[in-house]
Amino acid sequence: MNKSYHYKLFTAFLLTILIFLGLLTALGYYQFKNYYLQSLEARLVKEAYLVADMCWYRTQDNGLVRSYQDICVSAARDASTRVTIINSQGMVWGDSEVSPQQLDNHSTRPEVYAALQGKTGVEIRYSDTLKMDMLYVAVPFSNQESSGVVRMAMPLSDLQTIYDHALMGILMVALGCGCLAFLLSFVLIPYFSRPIREITSAVQEMARGNYNRRISMHSEDELGILAASFNDMGQHIEQNLQQISEVKDRLEAILSNTVNGILLIGREGRLIYANPAAVLLLGLEADSIGRNYTETLTAFEILQMVDEVRQSRKQNKQSIVLHTRGDRTVEVNVVPVIYEGETSQDILLVFNDISEMKRLEQVRRDFVANVSHELKTPVATISGFAETLWDEEGRNPANVAEFSRIIYDEAQRLSTLINELLTLSRLEADTVNLNLQKIDLNHIIATTVSRMAILAGQKGVSIHYPELPRAVEICSDAESIEQIITNLLDNAIKYSHQGSSIEVKLEDQPDRAIVRVKDHGPGIPVSELPRIFERFYRVDKARSRKTGGTGLGLAIVKHLAEVLKAQVSADSTLGIGSTFSVTFFK
Ligand SMILES: Nc1ncnc2c1ncn2[C@@H]1O[C@H](COP(=O)(O)OP(=O)(O)O)[C@@H](O)[C@H]1O
Ligand SMILES: [Mg+2]
Repeated sequence: MNKSYHYKLFTAFLLTILIFLGLLTALGYYQFKNYYLQSLEARLVKEAYLVADMCWYRTQDNGLVRSYQDICVSAARDASTRVTIINSQGMVWGDSEVSPQQLDNHSTRPEVYAALQGKTGVEIRYSDTLKMDMLYVAVPFSNQESSGVVRMAMPLSDLQTIYDHALMGILMVALGCGCLAFLLSFVLIPYFSRPIREITSAVQEMARGNYNRRISMHSEDELGILAASFNDMGQHIEQNLQQISEVKDRLEAILSNTVNGILLIGREGRLIYANPAAVLLLGLEADSIGRNYTETLTAFEILQMVDEVRQSRKQNKQSIVLHTRGDRTVEVNVVPVIYEGETSQDILLVFNDISEMKRLEQVRRDFVANVSHELKTPVATISGFAETLWDEEGRNPANVAEFSRIIYDEAQRLSTLINELLTLSRLEADTVNLNLQKIDLNHIIATTVSRMAILAGQKGVSIHYPELPRAVEICSDAESIEQIITNLLDNAIKYSHQGSSIEVKLEDQPDRAIVRVKDHGPGIPVSELPRIFERFYRVDKARSRKTGGTGLGLAIVKHLAEVLKAQVSADSTLGIGSTFSVTFFK
């Protein structure tokens, strides 16, 4: 048993019992002694008065006078005590144990003195005569001829034996009670300490993190209230923890999924938190958290902003270019997080990658510039030739025909450009009306190919489409698909050498259908491939212009594919040819 509550309770219980029994024994022994002595005294006093009476009636029935010595001896025999009769001067007249002549004057003995004063004298004293402690009781007596004192004496050695016996008895009872209490403590103490042990183990378990631990104890006492309060507390903690963990999870999910980079620098300048977007954007290393921001943040502009905000405690917002993952334009917002009553502050950094926005802005700017330029060229040509026609004197019929053809061509180009721009803007504004229905891709390709074959024939190019023997059905908009294939074929024809052929193929797969348009033209440099779907982007501007191209054909294809949820890709080898593929999902 260690120094547990159980042990302490056990010790306290036994100690209390022992002290209590000790006190009870002492008190009992003391009370017994007192009572016994008093009753002995009372007996002796009673007997002394009897002897005093005998002294009063000294005359026997036959008229003889009894001697005091005789009275003493016979009284002592009856009372089994020493009896002494002393006259008023203190002289001993009779004694049951010693011859009166041997005894000195007794008037100074305290009990005798008291009795001579008419009182009852009681005294415990060492007897020189008998060489032991004695109890003396003396009472006055008188008769017709004289007066004196009757003294009774009893040795206390007998008394000590009685006391010892009594003490033994009391001790036995106390020992019995002690043993009983000891045995009882083995039953009672576990009974009282069990709830404490249960509460202790529950509290320990909770301290280790098991917050759903409860105590199954139902009593009305303080321990019952403690257990109930503990259970309530556990429930509250569990609920609060659950709420906190839900909030934490939600916050974590928000921070992890937000596209903005979020970073928190603690008041000591250490990095406390960085969400995945920030880690990616800043190229942070795995052990960055906990390190000083000056070691982890490499961009000079950010360090400067953080330093400024730490000093000024004012928000700072700037757009900077980060070179960690390609050149990204990032808007950095550095905010001081000041807590109430605190002098120091955390610093919150929010990164917003605006590269795409910047790029789109640039694209829009380029687009406006391109549109103006593309429109200006034919208009200038038209007005130029119209003016020449106007001014020409004599009007050479050959020139008129030539100039009119040029004007017509440029007007045609303008009209195509305007139509294509309108198509694009409609596609971008999402205002195209799709007629989604089950259509046969095989059939659409076949009709488009035969329509475009005329144009191809004019350029001395042939188109081959091995028509499939069955319908390839998808749910889509026939007109849009026709336009996609027309644009791809138009390019293939435009960029093919005279006499070469174009192969169109339809691959029917369980979940998709892929249309491929393959030509043997000049091909496209790999570096240009990602850009050919941009508006007005042309690999060879002069050639495209000569062939009447606007640079919008592939941009329209890309947009249409997006609207139809299809995928377009281009594959090309310079000098060998290009293949454009469109994947439609079933
Ligand atoms: N089949 C092809 N072969 C080679 N180059 C092509 C082909 N298709 C498109 N291109 C290149 O992609 C550019 C963009 O095409 P497109 O948007 O249709 O404009 P364009 O009006 O010039 O045809 C063309 O200018 C051309 O340089
Ligand atoms: Mg084109």
